[in-house]
Amino acid sequence: MIGVSRTSNRDDPGASSLSLPEELLLALLDEESGYFRQVPGWNLNCAMVGAVLGELSLLGRIDTDLKSLILVDSTDTGRPILDPILREIATETEQHNVRYWVERLVPQSESVINHALDRLVRRQVLDHHQGGFYTFARRQRSSETSLEHLAGEFVKARLTRIIFADEIPDPREVIITGLVNACNVFNLMFQIDEEAEERIEFVSKMDVIGRAIAEAVTQSIVAPTLRRPSLTKRIPTVSLRDLVFNRELREGRLPAGFALLAEKYGPVFELRIPFRQNIIVLAGLKANQWANRMGRIFLRSKEYFEGVDKAYGVSRSMHSVDGADHFRFRKSLQPAYSQATLTRRLDEVYDLARTHMASWDVGSTMPVQAMLRPLLNAQSSPLLASIDTQDEIVDALEYKVRVLNVGIVKTMPSFMLKTPSMRRRAKATQKIIDRMQSTHTATQRVGKHKDVVDAYLALHASDPQFLPESDLSLPLGAILMTAMYMGDQVGFALYWLLKNPDLYERVTAEADALWAEGDPGEDDLTPDRIDVTRRVLMEALRMSPIVAMSMRTVMNTCVVEGYELPVGAQLVIAQTATHYSEETFPDPWTFDIDRYAPPRNEHRGGGYAPFGLGTHSCLGRRWAHLHMAINLLMLTHHFKIELARPFKRMPMDPLPSQSPSNKIRIRLAEQRHELRV
Ligand code: HEM
Repeated sequence: MIGVSRTSNRDDPGASSLSLPEELLLALLDEESGYFRQVPGWNLNCAMVGAVLGELSLLGRIDTDLKSLILVDSTDTGRPILDPILREIATETEQHNVRYWVERLVPQSESVINHALDRLVRRQVLDHHQGGFYTFARRQRSSETSLEHLAGEFVKARLTRIIFADEIPDPREVIITGLVNACNVFNLMFQIDEEAEERIEFVSKMDVIGRAIAEAVTQSIVAPTLRRPSLTKRIPTVSLRDLVFNRELREGRLPAGFALLAEKYGPVFELRIPFRQNIIVLAGLKANQWANRMGRIFLRSKEYFEGVDKAYGVSRSMHSVDGADHFRFRKSLQPAYSQATLTRRLDEVYDLARTHMASWDVGSTMPVQAMLRPLLNAQSSPLLASIDTQDEIVDALEYKVRVLNVGIVKTMPSFMLKTPSMRRRAKATQKIIDRMQSTHTATQRVGKHKDVVDAYLALHASDPQFLPESDLSLPLGAILMTAMYMGDQVGFALYWLLKNPDLYERVTAEADALWAEGDPGEDDLTPDRIDVTRRVLMEALRMSPIVAMSMRTVMNTCVVEGYELPVGAQLVIAQTATHYSEETFPDPWTFDIDRYAPPRNEHRGGGYAPFGLGTHSCLGRRWAHLHMAINLLMLTHHFKIELARPFKRMPMDPLPSQSPSNKIRIRLAEQRHELRV
């Protein structure tokens, strides 16, 4: 060792109880984006393996110099972050250099990252936000911090002092400095001048182990020798026969169709569709876990959503951006989409729903979509945008479906957006936007509940460059999405209820009990009192999820379950394929709400994904769940409902999102309770 002491010079024992991989993650965390600084996947993986090797050498399990890595002691360390790697080194009989090991061990780095993040959250060093964002723990910033809570800031503060105040680093800090340098992110963290650059180079070489690891990582990053193709498998292509004869896909049941393909082809397979770029599909539990955790580093959504943005005349949206700007969108809009915002306005929800239901003729029969989309829109438009859009919503939704078919699922050419009927429907969309904007002047909003339009306007006011005036039609997306997604999902749930009369009775009983003494308040809608309704919805979301898959583009080469995904590949994450896998949901074709009660709790563990995975997962899921439950309860409380005609298998339309076919017709057999408006 050259020039550094092996005893730590830090005054923070809490931080030193973290391992080097954890400290490296903390050093790379960027609070603006809620994740790590943009380190390409391979580089990050090499650096993480380097951090593990560094920790193992500090614990005396291995010894490294510039030529070789030697196993000194194969005894487990008791840390799941380190031991799998130590064991793999122990199985090798030949001696290799550090670079060899960095590249050989890279496939383990994702599991290292996952373990490290979990542990940092468990130890309250990091806060984990819905969608897979991380920030330094809130408790850490308050006065009641323990030393370990300061670890995140501590790592960065130490690096600052080492680089800019010439403090003497300890060996761990030399390794961290070398690894952060190898990832090439110092210039993203600090203002780096020539002097600082020299200091970083000097520090990285101060310790022979740190130097060996940093050099090996740098070499692996610049020109990997082992990486391809020896470590990756060939992605199987689905045969035309398996596509054409897949009954589930043919009948529009995408989750079950993808589950069948995953069973035969594994977690990664390719679809070759004539006249289109090939599509790589990820399906199954492992693939979900990967997409949930790692998608943010390797994938982006821009290419898929930019067509939609263009059709609505905006430069970008929350769906189409990634990284720091995406995190900023989510943080700013989260309160507007929260369940608390909905529960503050329960009286309005009930009144709006009843007013709409009062327009129905008892004894009549309605197609399920035509019945429920307007019911949900009658509530959502006033709640989200303080306007009534019932006169335009049908046309606006037709236009949206066309935009999604052209822009996202690409089942239609772009000129199909310009047909005369679509031009007319685009006007309906514009009328809603105009209405939304004309009702949101400062004077008109005094004393009103803040809605989603207000949240976008506040974001615009705080930073007109981030959200320009030209993008102020964005809240329209919220109105359309809620009407369509929630209307259709309530339609699915209602269908399943009508197919299961015992559950129908239990939901009705919950509804009657809740409304026995007038409208239920927020405190009445407890999980216990809507237990059956809640689980019926969960099971409907499993068996017939509106959003069966998500589309992404690979932006950094990555390896999923041993398959390499090349940059630019088009990806379908079939996150709901697991809904029809025996492994995650035994007997998947049976509608069974007891899956979601202890001890089964089959929805826990990554196989349940009706609201998506990872950074873009649904921001309104809690709102949606409660709002749909209320609607299901009100429907059964006020009406006796029947299926006009039974079906053996539910007819549904798969694209652009799964929706109950209008062949399903609902009869309002009788009115059970008065609709007081
Ligand atoms: C049945 C109801 C709903 C379902 C099944 C659903 C499902 C989803 C899914 C799967 C995504 C992720 C799409 C992707 O990864 O590309 C998503 C995104 C989103 N959802 Fe929902 N959603 C529902 C209702 C709602 C409601 C009621 C709201 C608002 C109140 C909402 C707000 C959002 C937002 C803002 C995003 C974008 C998040 C982002 O890009 O970061 N959703 N939703």
